[in-house]
Amino acid sequence: MINIAVLGYGTVGSGVVEVLHTNHESIKKRAGEEINIKYVLDLRDFPGDPVEEILVHDYEEIINDPEVDIVVEVMGGIEPAHTFVKRALEAGKNVCTSNKALVAKYGPELMEIAKGKDINFLFEASCGGGIPIIRALNSSLTADVVDEITGILNGTTNYMLYKMDTEGCAFGEVLKEAQEMGYAEADPTADIEGHDAGRKIAILSSLAYGRFVNYEDVYMEGITKITPEDMEYARALGMKVKLLATSRKVKDSYYAMVAPFMVNKSSPLYSVDGVFNAVFVHANMLGDAMFYGSGAGKLPTASAVVADVVDAAKHLHRNIMTNWSNDPLSLQEMDEVEGRFFVRLQDAAIDEIEDAWGQVQTVELDTLSDEIGVLTSSMKQKRYKAGAEKLGDRVISMIRIKD
Ligand code: HSE
Repeated sequence: MINIAVLGYGTVGSGVVEVLHTNHESIKKRAGEEINIKYVLDLRDFPGDPVEEILVHDYEEIINDPEVDIVVEVMGGIEPAHTFVKRALEAGKNVCTSNKALVAKYGPELMEIAKGKDINFLFEASCGGGIPIIRALNSSLTADVVDEITGILNGTTNYMLYKMDTEGCAFGEVLKEAQEMGYAEADPTADIEGHDAGRKIAILSSLAYGRFVNYEDVYMEGITKITPEDMEYARALGMKVKLLATSRKVKDSYYAMVAPFMVNKSSPLYSVDGVFNAVFVHANMLGDAMFYGSGAGKLPTASAVVADVVDAAKHLHRNIMTNWSNDPLSLQEMDEVEGRFFVRLQDAAIDEIEDAWGQVQTVELDTLSDEIGVLTSSMKQKRYKAGAEKLGDRVISMIRIKD
């Protein structure tokens, strides 16, 4: 029998308990042994709940129990999660977590301890909710050299953009809905400002490129400035506005960013709506692949956590995260990144616009007669910025184009 302790009985923690109960028999078969939840740690009491009998308030009970083989950290946040996880690994206990903030910040340290002890620190649920993308990058795409990962990695913002676009809902109203459905972070600023997706693309890029990407180096822009008018322009162009997290190898350099993009109908990411997430991967032998599924919420996330528990149970004393390295990967300056730009302008003549950026394609909407939308050709961001400076406050807004 494998004993586990679940740290945190919130949305994901209660999901982990539910998954282990509902699929008890098939999980046992796959793990090769019974998985027993010996403890649930939470500061709160849950009178009448089935976990009441195994609920503890003091982590010392768990860390000092040699029968606990696997610690499941689903508390979220940095502290005390970091201290608890570090102590568990140092005590030789495998750890499975859904905590992207923890992995993005302390991944190298925690992975080093796990490798040193030949145990595992697993984090499938930290990126893409229920989508098995970490496992794919760590153990499936090992014959390839990956040169691009582009994902819709935040369910909250994808849900919000979808509702704003299709139902004309107001920003605050849809954010509240996403919170009620258990998609949003405790502090939803991390969702709407792109920081959650930034942490996830840093983790995925670290695995894909085999060197550690510090999420603090990732350029992050959220969705707070996106308006219904931007969505109207996107529709006119046969596109949708999506918050993309993307990283790419360009010659010998890499860049990583999170920003709203206009995505063309021809892209597989165009149809990824609602709370769904998707991760598009391009690799030199494989070509294109896309992983799609439920990106947030109690049971999809818990399913990924429990899959890690099964993997940890099968490899209690062998480190399997072989694609992770702690060597840092330095990222290109954003000024050097190339792409096309959609820009809304007012009081600007076309020759002034083309003087700034070269030839552009124009888009006009009947409903917005006092402005113009233009699509530039591909250029480095520093050239876009220099042109925008020339045009000054006649530039209303800019959204990148995903090609
Ligand atoms: N707040 C996150 C999201 C939860 O909306 O995607 C899953 O990581």
